[in-house]
Amino acid sequence: MKIHILTLFPDMILPWIGQSILGRAVENGLIDIGITNIRDHSADKHKKTDDTPYGGGAGMILTPQPVFDAITAIGAQHRRKIYMSPRGRQLDQTYIRELAGEDELVILCGHYEGVDQRILDAWEMEEVSIGDYILTGGELACMVLIDTVARMIPGVLGNESAHLEESIYSGLLEYDQYTKPRKYEGWAVPEVLFGGNHKMIRLWQWESSLRLTQQRRPDLLRAFLKKAPPLTKEEKKILDSVLAREPLLEEEE
Ligand code: ADE
Repeated sequence: MKIHILTLFPDMILPWIGQSILGRAVENGLIDIGITNIRDHSADKHKKTDDTPYGGGAGMILTPQPVFDAITAIGAQHRRKIYMSPRGRQLDQTYIRELAGEDELVILCGHYEGVDQRILDAWEMEEVSIGDYILTGGELACMVLIDTVARMIPGVLGNESAHLEESIYSGLLEYDQYTKPRKYEGWAVPEVLFGGNHKMIRLWQWESSLRLTQQRRPDLLRAFLKKAPPLTKEEKKILDSVLAREPLLEEEE
């Protein structure tokens, strides 16, 4: 997958690209990330990229010219384009999976108070938010988007099934995990995890997942149960006991 990032702050993103799982994916040619400094495309003699908003108001707005020219310069006119923005569609696993199916993406990071609307309209940009809070710029949001999309690309995660195990993928939050030592400062790992009884271990993980989801994200548990997942007799018994202890209340209007 080729990802083009348009930003005024390339140095915020550059060091991150070479690290960890993403770094390996880039090295292995699974992802190609190109960073374009919007300022390099400013036609202004002082390389200005922003101006005051028409109609008044605080802050500065990214002007159309440098962004239009940057898009044309990288040949991204006909690619799917995203603008990171708190007023956008909220990123979730469904959206991430969809984006991971693209061959090429262009991501615009805004700064200041926003961007001239003509940039979004003329280039049919999708606005994407990573949550209901305001960042000082789109770069962190862009990195979140790329990270989440990258790990869905086949071959990026060492263990192909790892992402299926975790949280939202199965519809439930991930179960508690432990590693060595067996006991640390008096805190012991649950006994069932040592026995080598894989069935018992799976059931323990199932119960851990259910309890956590019930307590922290009852909305997810409700959605999971609506899908009527195929459950074994033992799994059903555990589910019933979890629900008996703390019934799943109907969602409030
Ligand atoms: N830019 C500023 N805040 C943002 C958010 N919550 N999501 C995406 N881009 C942003």
